[in-house]
This record gives sequence, C-alpha cells and structure tokens, in this order.
Amino acid sequence: MKPTNGTTVTLEDLRNEIVGIDVNVPLLDGTERPYVFLDNAASTPAFRSVLKSMEEFLPWYSSVHRGTGYKAVVATNVYDETHRIAGEFVGADMTWNVVVFGKNTTECVNKLAYRFQLKPDDVVITTSMEHHSNDLPWRKYCNVVHIGITADGGIDLKELQAAIRQHKGKVRLVAVSGASNVTGICSPIYDVAQWAHEAGAKIFVDVAQLVPHRPVDILPNSDPRHIDFVAYSAHKMYAPFGIGVLVGPADFFEQGEPDMVGGGTVSYVGLEEVEWGAAPQKDEAGSPNVVGAVALAEAITVLQSVGMDTIAQHEQELLRYAIPKMKRIPGVRIYGPTEDISHKVGVIPFTLDSADHALVATILSMEGGIGVRNGNFCAQPYMRKLLGVTPEEEKQKRADRCDNPKLPGMVRASFGCYNNEEDIDWLVETLERIAKKEYRGTYTIDPITGMYVAKGQKINTAPLRFFNPLGASGAREEVA
Ligand SMILES: Cc1ncc(COP(=O)(O)O)c(C=O)c1O
Repeated sequence: MKPTNGTTVTLEDLRNEIVGIDVNVPLLDGTERPYVFLDNAASTPAFRSVLKSMEEFLPWYSSVHRGTGYKAVVATNVYDETHRIAGEFVGADMTWNVVVFGKNTTECVNKLAYRFQLKPDDVVITTSMEHHSNDLPWRKYCNVVHIGITADGGIDLKELQAAIRQHKGKVRLVAVSGASNVTGICSPIYDVAQWAHEAGAKIFVDVAQLVPHRPVDILPNSDPRHIDFVAYSAHKMYAPFGIGVLVGPADFFEQGEPDMVGGGTVSYVGLEEVEWGAAPQKDEAGSPNVVGAVALAEAITVLQSVGMDTIAQHEQELLRYAIPKMKRIPGVRIYGPTEDISHKVGVIPFTLDSADHALVATILSMEGGIGVRNGNFCAQPYMRKLLGVTPEEEKQKRADRCDNPKLPGMVRASFGCYNNEEDIDWLVETLERIAKKEYRGTYTIDPITGMYVAKGQKINTAPLRFFNPLGASGAREEVA
C-alpha cells in the first residue's frame, strides 16, 4: 500500500511531511524563529499524508460493524484492514494474532493486565527501567518483581535470567520495554523471550519507543524467541489521533472476559446471560476510533515507504552527530551509553551543572524556540537509579510534589525521523549559551505550577481561532 499521495516517500521527503514544520514561535527577545521539536519521545507531530488520508476517508466515514449502509460496509472494511496493517507492521501473522485498538499504550497495557486474570501470588517480572505504564498496571493484580539496571543503564540481564528461573512455575509474564523512553536503550527482547518461554511464561514488550524508530518483528508463534504481546501508540509515530495498538495471540483474546463491557463486545445478551463476541471487537467496547485507525495505517504506510532500516540508520547518525557535540559543552552530563550506541534509539537524557533541568528546558524554549522534555519522564524508579538518588534522599523528596523542578530530574532531547543536523546544531548552540550563563531572561518558579516562568513571557493562542480560551486577543502575559 502506498501513502495516499500515491508516491513513494523518501528520507529526504520526511521533513516536508511534517505538519507544522514551518511554524515560527516567539522568543523572549521579541523575535521569532522556526520551532525545533526535540520531544518526539513524548509525542510526534503528524505527517501531512496522515491528514490527507483522514480528509479522504471522512466523506466515507460511518459507524462500523453494525450498519448495512454502503458507507458502513466501506468503513468497516477499512477499519478491519487497519488492524491488519497495525499487526503486520510488527511482523504479526494475522492468522494467529489479533490486534486490539485502545486509545494509547497505557490503556493497552492495562487491558492486557486485566485480561491475564492474574492471581495475587502470580509473578510478573518487569524491570526498573520501565515507563510507569509498563509497571503500575501489573502491580494492581499480582506480585511484581523488578529487575535492577547495570551501570550503563541497561537491564541487568543476569539478574533477569536468574529471577525467571527462580520464579519458574509462578511467573506468568515477563514485561519489558523494547527501548527506554529515558535512555533509548534497546533491550535484547528475543533472548528475554526465550528465557520467559523456557520458564513457561509469556513475554510482553512495550514497543512504544521502538516501533517509530526501528523495524520490529514479533516472529512466528512457533519460534521460541517470539514475542507474545506488544503495545504501541500512534501518537508517537506521526498519527496523533488517539489510537493505541495491542497485538497478541488470538486464542488468548478469545478466552475470558473483556475489561470494559457494553456495546460491541457481545454476540448475545439475555437478562441473565451474556456471550462475548469475537476478538478483537470483544475488547473494543463502544464505538471505535475509526478515523484515528485510518491515520495510524497511513503513518505506517509512510514509514514503510521510507523503510524502517533507513529511518533507524538516519536516527543513529543523528545520535553520533549530537553526542560528541553535547559532551563538549562544559557541565553537560549525558546518562546512559554514549560510546557504544548501536543499541540505542535517538533519545539523549542530560543535565547541566549550572542550572536545574526545568530551568534548562524553559530557557531552551523561551530563548531558542526548542521543545524538549524535562523531569522524570514517567519512569521515576529508573531516573532515581540513573541519578544516584539515595533511599534517604528519596524519602525526603517524597514530601515534595513530583513535578517540582527542584526534585532530581533531567532534560531529554529526542529525535524523530525528520530531525536533521541543523536542529542539533541549534540545540548545542543554545545549550552552550546556557552553560556560559549567557541567557537573557529572568526566570522564577511559579509556585502553583512548579514551572519556571520568564519575565515578559507571552503565550499567544490567537492563531488558533477555533480554540481560544484566553479571550479575544489570545495573548497572556506570564507574571514573573
Ligand atoms: C516506553 C513507553 N511506554 C509507554 C508509554 C505510554 O504511552 P502512552 O502515553 O501513549 O500511553 C510511553 C510514553 O511516553 C513510553 O515512552
């Protein structure tokens, strides 16, 4: 399948594929400059082809699975096809697997955790590297064992293998991330799959940070190294329209009850009795997000057209370009591997000695027009290990708000397939100015939001004429 513009998309085309790449943002000194977006690990902008595909689909939009009208039949076919595209994108053989759509990875992991019907003394083994979304859902139901990390920030594989053996018979699932949202470290998922299977357990890989950057193949179910379940989010891969993807064996989803019940989930409802429908509808309660699914399928088609190997190589080149330059900035400390980076996606977490993470991120925005993320990236246990926060410090800091910029944290620059060396040059140049304390603004912490505000900072939503909660002008001056 070709992108809706009918042409093949190349790596060079990707920059122009980004909606909003040409948007200028105001800087503190009153000038404007093109926004440099380096927070792709949080969420990416949309591809133009994705918007186009939605526009082309909307005249045919209709509710799915329950209508006999022509459009309902077309929309149902399209919606079913998007499941196949989302599954095959991660190598799923759709004769054995199903794709369930949720609204994001978090919802998909919660769904899976429910569907496992875990008992309190069942064991799920996960790691201290995980995003909270691949940790907290498991904690709701059973005994969760957290594996430690090594000095370079990777999973302690010896400890993991030993724990899987130790809990053989009790361990139902090993849940690991494909790539960390903090350090970008990719885990050896096929080895972990083999160890899990040898212990009679299944494996779930949170591929939210892997699929936008590298080819992912869950392998045939007959392979002892295959991955049983994966989940990912469309908004991290250029289709931010509310779709999360959960892939797993059809026979797993055919058994048991769905987590959410109601319309669409059933084949029979009596006053006393309910029969659940077929997978995946049974797990997609209510009217689904058909347009979001179309968007995801189109984004996948664009990524495949460029080639995931080509994208992976480009992002590796960006890392190899950025890391040495950033390391040369006085006071910059990068966390995770910086030398052997072949098993790392394009995420660079760092701190600057001379300013806390929240201040650095705010100045990057206010004086450089650069969008990054700071804080703990929904991976607090991992962050504390990387930052060497002691249990005593942890205890003391717990009294503070978790978004307090005075809490230990980092700044994270993360690349998408469309970023280029100029983006990195501008990041490095702006960081150098911050390191030399050559920034111009006066920054104070807002006691309510816990975020820094620059004196004279203006937020102007006026161009967004359809959404202007700030009054007619849309301009708001932050008081510092
Ligand atoms: C590794 C990882 N897993 C899960 C999530 C949760 O994704 P979502 O917010 O789309 O549910 C994220 C989001 O940042 C992530 O990076």
